[in-house]
Parts: sequence; C-alpha cells; structure tokens
Amino acid sequence: MMGDVAEILVPSAEIQEKVREMGERITRDYAGERLLLVGVLRGAVVVMGDLMRNIDLPCEIDFMDISSYGSGTSSSGVVRILKDLEEDISGRHVLVVEDIIDTGLTLSYLLRSLRARKPASLEICALLSKPSRRRVELDVKYLGFEVPDEFVVGYGLDYAGAYRNLPDICVLKEEIFAGS
Ligand code: XMP
Ligand code: MG
Repeated sequence: MMGDVAEILVPSAEIQEKVREMGERITRDYAGERLLLVGVLRGAVVVMGDLMRNIDLPCEIDFMDISSYGSGTSSSGVVRILKDLEEDISGRHVLVVEDIIDTGLTLSYLLRSLRARKPASLEICALLSKPSRRRVELDVKYLGFEVPDEFVVGYGLDYAGAYRNLPDICVLKEEIFAGS
C-alpha cells in the first residue's frame, strides 16, 4: 500500500502527538461535564478512536452518516442524512468530530441540523482543514493540521474506499488516480 504513496504529509507520530494535545484541551475545557462526541462516518472513525482515549472525562460517542448531493468530488453543501444519531442531543454538550474540512459546506449543513435539536453546546473538532478551499466560515474550536489543496488519504481518509488504514496522512501517486 505504501507503494502507492507519493508523499507523507503528516507522519503518524505527529498525528498521535496532536491528537493527545487536542484530547488534553478538551479534557480541560469540558471539566465537570458529560461530553457527547459525534463522529461523521466513515472518515472520522480513526481519529474518534484515538481522540476519545485521550479525553479524561465521562464521554459517550455517536455517529452520523451523510452523503453529499451533487456532482463527483465537489461538495454541494446539501447533504442527506443516511444514518442519524441514536442519541437525543437536546441539553447535551456535543463535539462533532470530523476527518477533514474542505469547503466547509457539508459541516455547516450538518451543524444547522444539530443546532435545531437544541444541544447545550455544539463545537467542532477536525483533524485536517484545507483553508484555501473554504467557502463558508466555520468556527473550528479544535483543529489538528492545515493541509494544502491536495487530495489526502490515510488515518481514516479514503480514495475509492481504500487507504483508510494507512497510519500517516498521505498524498497518492498520480498514476493511482489516472486509472479511474
Ligand atoms: P466539504 O467540502 O463539504 O467536504 O467541507 C468535506 C468532505 O469532503 C471529503 N474530502 C476528502 N476526503 N481526502 C478525502 O479522503 C481529501 O483530501 C478530502 N477533501 C475533502 C471528506 O469526506 C470530507 O468529510
Ligand atoms: Mg467525511
């Protein structure tokens, strides 16, 4: 699998260090509260697993699965909820955990839906952000790394379903995309 990788953008050790820092900040910020982490399937599964083990608080997890309407890889911002939360979030402290924020359209739509359910608080934790691509303003309270406008895989992120299990955040070789 590493043979398909052109470049490692963020090595595993740096990701682990950053996730530990984010977990410590979250632990301080939510001291005394019971937290609900909401992961967005499927990309956020890996960061969710590492992040939750670095949060020293009573905490629960839940997941949503969404699908973006519109053409190919470009996000339209209108999302369909494929799997909704199991939990009622009204009055809860909710932290949405995302793998990557690109245009921000998907997350901003999702936040609108969650806000309407009247959580006690609603914040965002994203492992990666592509700031040059942003089309809507989002207040990301916990951010791991900013990355350039390149398609990245690994640590939960996929290309055509594959590469999620790579431990590093990587850019693939051109030839991998040429075949599709
Ligand atoms: P928006 O543009 O709405 O989209 O912020 C965010 C979603 O787009 C996907 N995305 C990526 N997935 N590598 C990926 O594997 C990437 O470089 C990438 N950029 C955007 C991702 O599903 C994210 O939730
Ligand atoms: Mg995603």
